Amino acid sequence: MPNIVIVGSLFGDEGKGKIVDLLTEKCDYVVRFQGGNNAGHTVEIGDEQFILHLIPSGILHNNKVCLIGNGVVVDPQALLEEMQFLESRGIFVDGNLKVSDIAHLIFPYHKKLDELREHKKGNKKIGTTKRGIGPAYADKVSRMGIRMIDLLNEKSFSEKLRNNLEEKNDLLKNVYAGQPFSFQEIFDTYMEYAAKIKPYLANVPMILMDAIKKRKNILFEGAQGTMLDVDFGTYPYVTSSNPTAGGACIGTGVAPSKIDQVIGVTKAYSTRVGEGPFPTEFSGDFAGWFREQGKEFGATTGRPRRCGWFDAVLMKYSVLINHFDYLVMTKLDVLDKLETIKICTAYMYKGELLELFPQDTDVLTNCTPVYEELPGWMQSTNAIRDYKKLPANARAYIERISELLGVPFNIVSIGAKREETIFI
Ligand code: GDP
Ligand code: IMO
Ligand code: MG
Repeated sequence: MPNIVIVGSLFGDEGKGKIVDLLTEKCDYVVRFQGGNNAGHTVEIGDEQFILHLIPSGILHNNKVCLIGNGVVVDPQALLEEMQFLESRGIFVDGNLKVSDIAHLIFPYHKKLDELREHKKGNKKIGTTKRGIGPAYADKVSRMGIRMIDLLNEKSFSEKLRNNLEEKNDLLKNVYAGQPFSFQEIFDTYMEYAAKIKPYLANVPMILMDAIKKRKNILFEGAQGTMLDVDFGTYPYVTSSNPTAGGACIGTGVAPSKIDQVIGVTKAYSTRVGEGPFPTEFSGDFAGWFREQGKEFGATTGRPRRCGWFDAVLMKYSVLINHFDYLVMTKLDVLDKLETIKICTAYMYKGELLELFPQDTDVLTNCTPVYEELPGWMQSTNAIRDYKKLPANARAYIERISELLGVPFNIVSIGAKREETIFI
């Protein structure tokens, strides 16, 4: 298998976890390259469900090396809890997991600041997962961040933590009227984490270069989605990393010339959690009915996901940014009961037809979708395993989307379980 980057094509939760788990079978290394435990990747195996937040979804397979790249921000508490959770479910996490020694750490003050900033924004809030992701990336870029490797040097860790707390406690007390954090408490806790995490720390670019030399295959597991990218998404309603294909190189230290394929995962419709523009969003009773059909509740925060029709305008932009070689369509089965299905092919904005994604978030917020309507198939697809056996209208739907985007589909998913998959 080639080295493949798996990317969420729109707002996250496309079913990347299921697809990464499936493709892990054919690869040797699985690496997360951005985000943190804001992600929630669900894998269903038999009657068991696993939700991975930080550890690559490949961990559920034996004999695969799972890596957390430098582009990820790591909450050590969340990492240790996830390891414990997996071990309690019989999944062995030891030599098969390595964490980049230059990945940045999330601290309790990041989580607190995330929460307080959101609160202060009122109705302009982003709707973050409150995992401290934004503040941790902000520290990284402003060169205040503390990295995994600092955990190994008590003196320098202590200095860096003290400097950070001086600034953060000032901010917490004087800007947000919050409580300051105790240096000693964080120091002691993080030194305990250090002892536990030290055996997992590694030079990830070296491991991956060695893998490439040995002709091993690497799967890059994206978190979030293209429209949540801090550069290309619906700014400021985005996350703080680059979930797009290019992020795979920056977030792991693997050069672009070593990436062979980019695969975009998309739902058969659209969803979004958190605030921000979503032109094709459903409203009224239908919205609630549809959410129940798709079981659209966040895997990390449990929040109800906003649902809407497939948006080919946003998807064309996602194709432009990621240059997908293939697309994977998930959750086709959720559309099984619909009489008609809509695809958004353009927007109307102040009487003007827009066929391209408008970069101005205010414009996007005020766009009205222009739809193409296709007949539904009104029958269950869940048991189908052969593309040709899908109802003709389901194939027509998939093929129309492929035509609009100019990208072929190579997998269609018709259920959450591994076997509920059609390879084209
Ligand atoms: P991720 O963040 O992209 O990995 O996606 P999530 O795990 O947050 O959300 C996807 C949800 O859809 C999970 O509950 C999956 O178990 C479920 N799922 C994945 N593929 C399918 C599918 O083809 N059909 C149905 N009905 N559910 C699916
Ligand atoms: P996976 O990997 C869906 C959203 C949040 C919020 C915005 C910023 O499971 O697809 P953050 O906490 O990152 O600062 O929040 O991004 N968000 C996600 N939405 N899936 C995710 O991950 C998400 N991770 C963050 O809801 O709107
Ligand atoms: Mg998710």
